[in-house]
Amino acid sequence: MDKYILAIETSCDETACSIIKNDKEILSNIVSSQINVHKLYGGVVPEVASRIHVENISVVIEEALKKANLTMDKIDAIALTQGPGLIGSLHVGIIAAKTLAWMYNKPIVPIHHIIGHIYANTFVDDLMFPLLALVVSGGHSELVIMKDEWSFEVVGTTQDDAIGEAYDKVARVLGLSYPGGPAIDKLAKEGKSNYTLPIPKTENQYDFSFSGLKSAVIQLKNRLERNNEEVINADIAFSFQESALAQIIKITDKAISDFKPKHVVLAGGVAANTRLRELMNEMIKKHENVKLTIPPLWCCTDNAAMIGAAGSIAFNHGLISDLNFGAQPSKDIEC
Ligand code: KG4
Ligand code: ZN
Repeated sequence: MDKYILAIETSCDETACSIIKNDKEILSNIVSSQINVHKLYGGVVPEVASRIHVENISVVIEEALKKANLTMDKIDAIALTQGPGLIGSLHVGIIAAKTLAWMYNKPIVPIHHIIGHIYANTFVDDLMFPLLALVVSGGHSELVIMKDEWSFEVVGTTQDDAIGEAYDKVARVLGLSYPGGPAIDKLAKEGKSNYTLPIPKTENQYDFSFSGLKSAVIQLKNRLERNNEEVINADIAFSFQESALAQIIKITDKAISDFKPKHVVLAGGVAANTRLRELMNEMIKKHENVKLTIPPLWCCTDNAAMIGAAGSIAFNHGLISDLNFGAQPSKDIEC
């Protein structure tokens, strides 16, 4: 019998609902982005984000059901992002999901946002285990080992800023608009290796660090301005990106050699970065018999289809909750 999951994602600044059939067939994937509003403030304003989620959530759910040509009685379970994310934003999705679950008497499956990003790869390839996921988003920089389906162990994390956060902050310093990642990605293509920036080092061999690099960019710009030298933004974007990604690639390369996964997947908004995709494709050639999957651009950044894909597997595992759960803004991935 066919299985239909309705999934809701509201962890940050996208209000999203998707219907997934039989684990990975996307019947609808509606994403209402708030980027144009937050752009005015140079970043996501949490209070504004929750308010826009409230305005949009019912419309997005209705639209997802309509596009899938389904009614709620056909839905087998409701999946939703429980965390991590902005508490006010998460609450809106959770309340909507709980209301539907209660009204229509459906099972509810709370999902970790990063697990959703990892399962976005199932729209392209079947996952093979052991698997290493490089999770790079606005809130996360993590290396996650999955020895098997639905088993997650974080072997490396960031000691300070997440990589997407560093992209967004550096973009702001360079006067680029929010979100900074795509803007730096584009500008760096016009830049060259004119400035030297450090490649940060960390104590744990699989951990990342980006705040020193971000400070180095600020100091470089201040120094150039103080000395009345020309500030070439494209060259700064180029050097920042090369240093940040050199670290990511070096650590991921080492983790592949040490943990010997069969499958490596990219996950999170920064997986949309063209230079990172290029460097990963290059690096993986060194490792024989390791498959690399990079999610298509449309499902790198936040969406509900990825929550539906993960939710469908969690539902298969019986990971159903009662309605007594709340948002977990710092939810742990290991389970
Ligand atoms: O996964 P995501 O949509 O939201 C979180 O879960 O955080 O990731 C958003 C992050 C932002 O920091 C954004 O600047 C970054 O992903 N991003 C990029 C690119 N596209 C989005 N970073 C670098 N290059 C890109 N092309
Ligand atoms: Zn995300």
